[in-house]
Amino acid sequence: MISEDVSPMTLSQMFNREQIEKFNTLNTPFYYYDISLLSNTLTACTTEANKYGFHVHYALKANFDQKVLETIRSFGIGADCVSGGEVRRAVEVGFENKKIVFAGVGKSDAEINFALDHEILCFNVESIQELEVINKLAGLKGKKASVALRINPNVNAYTHKYITTGLEENKFGINQWEFEKVLVALKSLQNVNCIGLHFHIGSQITDLNVFKSLCIKVNEIVNWFQERHLTIKVINVGGGLGVDYYNPDTNKVADFETYFKIFDLFLERTAQQEVHFELGRALVAQSGTLISRVLYVKHGQVTNFAILDAGMTELMRPALYQAYHKIENISSQDQNSARYDVVGPICESTDCFGKAVELPETKRGDLIAIRTAGAYGEVMASNYNLRDRVNVVYSK
Ligand code: LLP
Repeated sequence: MISEDVSPMTLSQMFNREQIEKFNTLNTPFYYYDISLLSNTLTACTTEANKYGFHVHYALKANFDQKVLETIRSFGIGADCVSGGEVRRAVEVGFENKKIVFAGVGKSDAEINFALDHEILCFNVESIQELEVINKLAGLKGKKASVALRINPNVNAYTHKYITTGLEENKFGINQWEFEKVLVALKSLQNVNCIGLHFHIGSQITDLNVFKSLCIKVNEIVNWFQERHLTIKVINVGGGLGVDYYNPDTNKVADFETYFKIFDLFLERTAQQEVHFELGRALVAQSGTLISRVLYVKHGQVTNFAILDAGMTELMRPALYQAYHKIENISSQDQNSARYDVVGPICESTDCFGKAVELPETKRGDLIAIRTAGAYGEVMASNYNLRDRVNVVYSK
């Protein structure tokens, strides 16, 4: 337990003593969502986007927790979905149907029908084959479906290869060599109405020059289609803005100011054209923390292991992408520190949150905070090893 004379700031920049005492009474592991930090992030994002009249859709795949979604919706942000389940969730949470977009390379007929019934803003169509299926299903309902063509622009996002999506080798979108064919298809398909183009080149992009390169490529492609008399009302540039996993305490939310300014400067558009963004991580990552408890400390000859009650089943990113998350012992104020491999209980050697992590002397029962876990954390949890579903706790 925490003694009275300890300043909370020596324990954690994020959590005060009262919070940590509360955490000590709760069942671990759990995701803790700081709703006021989320609101600050959303304020920063919408303030900057509004300067240029940009439209933001939130990528539900990053986190579809009910309270998180309600908070996001309350800022007037739209929803970017990649499954029928996400479209359903967005509708249930109250996102306006005309602010819902639906992407994904493998939309099933049932998912397409569900979205058609709810008259969403548009389908981001990833192939000519999909265009034909949407055309057919819309026709059967006597409807005209709005679509945007997802283009694979072949722009390198310079991020982890597993989260790069805009290269020709990736499965996403329509490639340049298919453009003529898609124009021909659009002319003959009577039940689809193409409202624009969609791009998304990858996630956790921290080199903002990448977005300048994207703009240059998007301008080229938009012009190509406009020269061939396709009306582009919407230019959707996707998401991908990265966050600083190394410094979760800086109180500096993602750099929305520079991000949107780049698009304002480099993306050619007319006053009639809408620019859409699909941000996920940058909106939710910093406001989530995985709180876990140390079950055992094993001292080896070369390695100490801190074995937690959370594992890759609760937060898969380190196992899947070797992703870094800052790890803090928020219970211990021990002056002595040691290095630990911080691992979970799952029967896999990749079930490791960090190797040789320097922590204050750590013991059974200590609380461990794994930071910047609000995006692609809880949503990627599994019940492998027949684990229970992870709990959720919110800030007041
Ligand atoms: N739009 C589309 C079409 C996407 O595929 C994605 C993410 C986004 C928007 C949102 O991207 P964001 O702003 O969050 O970067 N599980 C991985 C990330 C996968 C991202 C998939 N697509 C991770 O944990 O890093």
